[in-house]
Amino acid sequence: MANHFAHRLPKETPLARPSESYVCQSCGAVYAKWAGRCDACGQWNTIELEQSAAPPNTVTTKGGKGTAISLDPLEGDATTEYRFPTGNGEFDRAVGGGLVPGAALLIGGDPGVGKSTLLLQIAAGLAQSGTKTAYISGEEATAQIRMRAKRLGLAKAPVGLGTGTSLRDILATLKETKPQAVIIDSIQTLWSDTLPAAPGTVTQVRACAQELVRYAKSNNCVVILVGHVTKDGQLAGPRVVEHLVDAVLYFEAEAGRAFRILRAVKNRFGGAHEIGVFEMTGGGLREVSNPSALFLSENDNQVSGSVVFGGIEGTRPLLCEIQALVSQSSLGAPRRAVVGWDNARLSMLLAVLDTRCGLDFGRHDVFLNVAGGLKISEPAADLAAATALLSARLDVALPPKLVVFGEVGLSGAVRPVPQISTRLAEASKLGFDMTLSPPSADGFGNLHAAPAEVIVDAVSFVKKQGGVP
Ligand code: TYD
Ligand code: MG
Repeated sequence: MANHFAHRLPKETPLARPSESYVCQSCGAVYAKWAGRCDACGQWNTIELEQSAAPPNTVTTKGGKGTAISLDPLEGDATTEYRFPTGNGEFDRAVGGGLVPGAALLIGGDPGVGKSTLLLQIAAGLAQSGTKTAYISGEEATAQIRMRAKRLGLAKAPVGLGTGTSLRDILATLKETKPQAVIIDSIQTLWSDTLPAAPGTVTQVRACAQELVRYAKSNNCVVILVGHVTKDGQLAGPRVVEHLVDAVLYFEAEAGRAFRILRAVKNRFGGAHEIGVFEMTGGGLREVSNPSALFLSENDNQVSGSVVFGGIEGTRPLLCEIQALVSQSSLGAPRRAVVGWDNARLSMLLAVLDTRCGLDFGRHDVFLNVAGGLKISEPAADLAAATALLSARLDVALPPKLVVFGEVGLSGAVRPVPQISTRLAEASKLGFDMTLSPPSADGFGNLHAAPAEVIVDAVSFVKKQGGVP
């Protein structure tokens, strides 16, 4: 195949020697020579030279006969539904209600976000509720971890603490001590002496993760792997490890804020997109069991451009404030800036408002912000964002106890969204008394529903609030 990036290659493209290959550090694709961009995953500058392991033996009749595996009916004994409780409600929620024996989990996050702190707390919680737990660190010394445990008030928890980076030693330790749950902090520090590749390379990370997942399955032990996300938001070798484990969770923080979100992006034993919310305090991570309060501003003085969105994260309702600012622009190409929402989605909404409602934003700078540093990806936020834009554009403040949700189509139609009753119940619980939502949402408790069938209904609603003709 022609190489499209030939002009970017060093003059003498090094060809890998037979025992070496060029491996993409993001997806694990293997190449015979170096390239600037990985064709498999599209990432730039991720291809590096690695010593390769001997290719796996192909299954031939030469290696002897295999043993037939039994094929059983679907009905029959299932593994028990037992899950190890971690004693931490938010963590349990994110993983789908406790840890399933034999499960392998990957917890990723930026350096310093609090992964080690969270997992030490989880290790202590597991141990205190009677699960035999080991915490193995390849990054910190025993004294450092003890100091952290003391600070968290967990020094008395019966956790087996180990330090080490050799996979062989770790497996030997596990086979000897037989814990029911083990935490490996972090997968990138491990190395297997059967491979010539350097620790932290995708080959090592994959091989070590594979071995540990195999150990988890064959010993019914929960294995939690901690993984670092690199500066550009990539977990080194993310795809290769993500495919090996049963659940992948990301621990996220917004810069400069104390709250942390543990978000499940894949989960074989529970719902994906489930979140757990924590706050980083001087004494470790504190559970935040009512996150809506965290993302709503206390201020009751309504200004134009502010709208409360009735959202859902996983199975949990989450109300948050969306703020818009629309100002006259002096620039030829007006500014569009979004924090916590999708840029393309904003452009779409502005086009819909222009075409379907005749509201022109062409000479205005538009800023949209999700308060509290939350990131919203639900299409249900469309109507809330549109209402915030309308409120800002027409300079009409909306009622303080109003909740808005609904998906907006290109035709300007407002489409129904999932889990309406959960959204309404949360709004009602937090003292909201009015909703602007798709027509199917009306009739809940003391909430007065203003139905919006098309986006023009939202325009009329906002105009009516401000007495605008
Ligand atoms: P850590 O768990 O070491 O992060 P990671 O393992 O993801 O790299 O957490 C590091 C940060 O957390 C550090 O900046 C200090 C802060 N922290 C607290 O604020 N309170 C605490 O009780 C602890 C243990 C850490
Ligand atoms: Mg750490």
